[in-house]
Amino acid sequence: MLVVATLSLKGGVGKTTVALGLAGAAQHHGVPALVVDLDPQANATIALDVGPTAATVADVLDDPRPSVVRRAIAPSGWGEGVDVLVGAEQTERHNHPDPSGTQLTRLRRALERLEGPDEDSEPYRLVIIDCPPSLGQLTRSALAAADRAVLVTDPTMFAVSGVQRAFDAVQAERARGNPDLQPLGVLINRVRPRNTEHAFRMEELRELFGPLVFTGVLPDRSAIQQAQGACMPIQRWDTPGAREVSAIFTGLLGRLLRSARRAEVAAPPHTR
Ligand SMILES: Nc1ncnc2c1ncn2[C@@H]1O[C@H](COP(=O)(O)OP(=O)(O)O)[C@@H](O)[C@H]1O
Ligand SMILES: [Mg+2]
Repeated sequence: MLVVATLSLKGGVGKTTVALGLAGAAQHHGVPALVVDLDPQANATIALDVGPTAATVADVLDDPRPSVVRRAIAPSGWGEGVDVLVGAEQTERHNHPDPSGTQLTRLRRALERLEGPDEDSEPYRLVIIDCPPSLGQLTRSALAAADRAVLVTDPTMFAVSGVQRAFDAVQAERARGNPDLQPLGVLINRVRPRNTEHAFRMEELRELFGPLVFTGVLPDRSAIQQAQGACMPIQRWDTPGAREVSAIFTGLLGRLLRSARRAEVAAPPHTR
């Protein structure tokens, strides 16, 4: 099971869009996935068209026992292959600015104890954590639980400092308690091809972060908003813009799964 967090310390840049795009790509390619909605705004839960549950991720952060986790997970309305650990406004009460180590690892413990149909099986191959736009307890809990972080940014003036701070947060968590965490890379979102300011900012990001910036960027496409508004995966939205965006998410999913395989090969067998 690979856990990935979509991260940026700014709102509205596309974290949820990337989490949803990855979930849709996973479903399309037969990779069983769980979306964890850590944002108190619960946008991912809404777009994934989830029915009511007896508990939410806020309850899991109070008490990460499997019985609570079970009650907070529901199938998405997208159909087979995507489940949701549902978000709720109440999650905000877990966003302390200065959390304890125990508070930070509750989500990790909950995910480690996810149960499959039998003892040795894992129910999901991919867990996608959608983060809120701040570096409080919630985002740090996601980093404490994740193997990979996708840093999302828009190509605007504050992109460089935002991405740098997100990288620093990843490094801080690696040093604090999760040495397995790796930044997968920087995904630039909402790119308009003929916008010279966007071209300038993308160049700036590539100069500073080099190969960590994905060559595939996400274009600004109304299909993204339309599919989200209709609670559908972009992979099932049949327009040229949607197909263009879906291809980027397929590439991102591939990169993610390959990075997991490389880590497995690198680790000596007794540590797997
Ligand atoms: N590439 C894109 N093209 C068009 N609209 C987009 C794109 N990326 C995000 N949006 C829209 O921008 C808004 C904010 O995106 P969202 O993913 O919710 O950001 P965040 O989770 O970082 O706050 C949403 O309405 C979303 O549909
Ligand atoms: Mg969001």
